[in-house]
Amino acid sequence: MTIICLGLEGTAHSFGAGIMTDRGDVLSNEYDMLKTTQGGIHPREASRHHTELGPMIIARCIENAAIDYNDIDMIAFSRGPGLGPCLRATATMARTLALKLDIPLVDVNHCVAHIEIGCLESKFQDPVTVYVSGGNTQVIAFAGSRYRTFGETLDIAIGNMLDVLGRELGMGFPAGPIVETLALDGSTFYTLPYSVKGMDLSYSGMLTAAKKLHSEGVKLADICFSVQETAFGMLAEIAERAIAHTKKRELLLTGGVARNNRLTQILEGVAQRHDAKFHRVSSQLAGDQGAMIAWNGILQYNAGHTIKVSESNVLPKWRTDEQDILWRD
Ligand code: ATP
Ligand code: FE2
Repeated sequence: MTIICLGLEGTAHSFGAGIMTDRGDVLSNEYDMLKTTQGGIHPREASRHHTELGPMIIARCIENAAIDYNDIDMIAFSRGPGLGPCLRATATMARTLALKLDIPLVDVNHCVAHIEIGCLESKFQDPVTVYVSGGNTQVIAFAGSRYRTFGETLDIAIGNMLDVLGRELGMGFPAGPIVETLALDGSTFYTLPYSVKGMDLSYSGMLTAAKKLHSEGVKLADICFSVQETAFGMLAEIAERAIAHTKKRELLLTGGVARNNRLTQILEGVAQRHDAKFHRVSSQLAGDQGAMIAWNGILQYNAGHTIKVSESNVLPKWRTDEQDILWRD
């Protein structure tokens, strides 16, 4: 019998509902992002967005999957990491549905879900993962029952750096795609702080330096070009070292910033040099959405893990390496 899982995602400014089967088919994937002109997230506003729109997004998701509430076998939700009010709003909907439909509830780590949806798509067994988004920048590999963070940002995430730069320089939000387009017209490279410390990296110095270039009248396209080349070069260095160190032969790119073609090109080069396969998660599954939560929920459920409503408190600071990965050995 096929298992059907409804996954709810709501760690930050997006609320998503996705329906997956245990065969790995996405039946439906609906989401909506709180739009702000400034780009910054206000946790309470975002949680209100989730509460107000959540039920409608869930209903649309079920309708698009051409199923009924009673066809759902289990509910998965993003338990963390993320913004407390957003996580709580999402968890409340998940708990309500699990109780009302009398079906199992499964708690999912948002970062692990970004990796596993990529593994499903690529059929990779054991990749080094570059997970890049508005809130996270991590290079991850599986070792000893956990996903270990080999390297990560010591300050701001790469997507956040691009978004803040965009805000300061008068682009729209999210700025990542705009920076990418503008960079295509850049030709002069300006040296920016290249900050790799061991396996970790830092983006705040680059942000300050890029703003300074802008105040000195440097062309926007050249700033975007220089920022991308430097920021992505730093990621490539860490990814390369993670591959060399772990001897893994698969490189996975996931998270919202995975939509960037230049980053993809650079990491493809890294994989090639190490005779590794490369996969970038498709655009519709790269960012925050419910299908990845549903899929991770199914993996956990099949490994025998569910959670009681009474124990399903949210975990805003839940790290990638704090979860036992029961479905891998
Ligand atoms: P997380 O909770 O995992 O940190 P998130 O809330 O940031 O995720 P995502 O949808 O995963 O949500 O990522 C959004 C980020 O991706 C934004 O910072 C946005 O600027 C960035 N982004 C989207 N498209 C591109 C692109 N083409 N190039 C660079 N960055 C991009
Ligand atoms: Fe995410």
